[in-house]
Amino acid sequence: MVSEKDFIANNLNATIENGSFQWSAPSNIALVKYWGKKENQIPANPSVSFTLNHCKTITKLAFSKRNIFHEASGKLTTTDKEFSFDLLFEGKPKEEFKPKIQKFFERIVLYCPYLKEYHFTIDTENTFPHSSGIASSASGMAALSMNIMSLEKALHPTMTDAYFFQKASFLARLGSGSACRSVKGSVVVWGKHAEIENSSDLFGVEFPSSIHENFKNYQDTILLVDKGEKQVSSTVGHDLMHNHPFAEQRFAQAHHNLSAVKTVLESGNLDGFIKIVESEALTLHAMMMTSLPYFILIKPNTLEIINRIWKFRNETKTPLCFTLDAGANVHVLYPENVRESVLQFIKGELVGYCQNGTYICDAIGFGAIEIK
Ligand code: PMV
Repeated sequence: MVSEKDFIANNLNATIENGSFQWSAPSNIALVKYWGKKENQIPANPSVSFTLNHCKTITKLAFSKRNIFHEASGKLTTTDKEFSFDLLFEGKPKEEFKPKIQKFFERIVLYCPYLKEYHFTIDTENTFPHSSGIASSASGMAALSMNIMSLEKALHPTMTDAYFFQKASFLARLGSGSACRSVKGSVVVWGKHAEIENSSDLFGVEFPSSIHENFKNYQDTILLVDKGEKQVSSTVGHDLMHNHPFAEQRFAQAHHNLSAVKTVLESGNLDGFIKIVESEALTLHAMMMTSLPYFILIKPNTLEIINRIWKFRNETKTPLCFTLDAGANVHVLYPENVRESVLQFIKGELVGYCQNGTYICDAIGFGAIEIK
């Protein structure tokens, strides 16, 4: 079994002075939700997600070996106690993003000790609008982790691809839990689960069995209900699952739902899929509403949209459903063969409930890509 120790880089045999890498990494949407964590970003329950295709972060990592003069010894060295990096967002310096990266570097330096030997320029941008309420932490942390692994591979050229992707997911997890599901596509499981071979609390693994045709190119139209800053961060929300009155039942339910969704993804049972996915979304928000202190992230328009989706599904028998992440936006999930009629329904009936009428059409994707 792979353990944390396996991710400590200690056999680097190449040297590299400077260079740059660039990766894009997608966002993902959980079908069975991760909510609640143990120490060190270990999930309290396993989760599974669809990797997205269009909502991505593109990050370029430029690096150069440091030259630091240490007065005490009078020597030049390449390492220091501190990290050294500049952070650009869409080409312009963005100081507000730096503390998150600093914290990420502090968490991963044990596994990537070479980080202190370089000065980095991290230049990042998203394909989706900033402040759209779509969390960029999953795609952002995944894109940065891919770049760091490219540097590590340059320092250790015999590294296998399997290790490269596994450690990228492991590092991404330490930046933001759900980010570990954004490295690969198109269905990723994170967290130990009895029926998912090789599943781990340390990194995401690709769904091991084949997915039914019904889910190929599955669509996700993201309705942007509220683009504002969330009142309660995911970090606080996860924390409130400690001593939560329903925590144990919820964690057991997630294991059960993951087994059920596995069967559904293999068999193509769309009704079964809808039941699990919608129940998971509402359970996630039920956990928020029953935390102490309690909080509500959905908005009146979220509920309007849900009711209209249910009505449309009842009347037309179209197999669309909704899911939610930790916010007010609604992800509408549906098979590709009903795309035209669902988009017509969205444009006709749901767009009015979106902030400035905005929505994003996405679909299942295939994970991070290196941009050469
Ligand atoms: O990765 P975090 O810490 O931002 O948590 C995200 C949790 C949910 O999006 C609500 C669920 C999930 O599994 O992605």
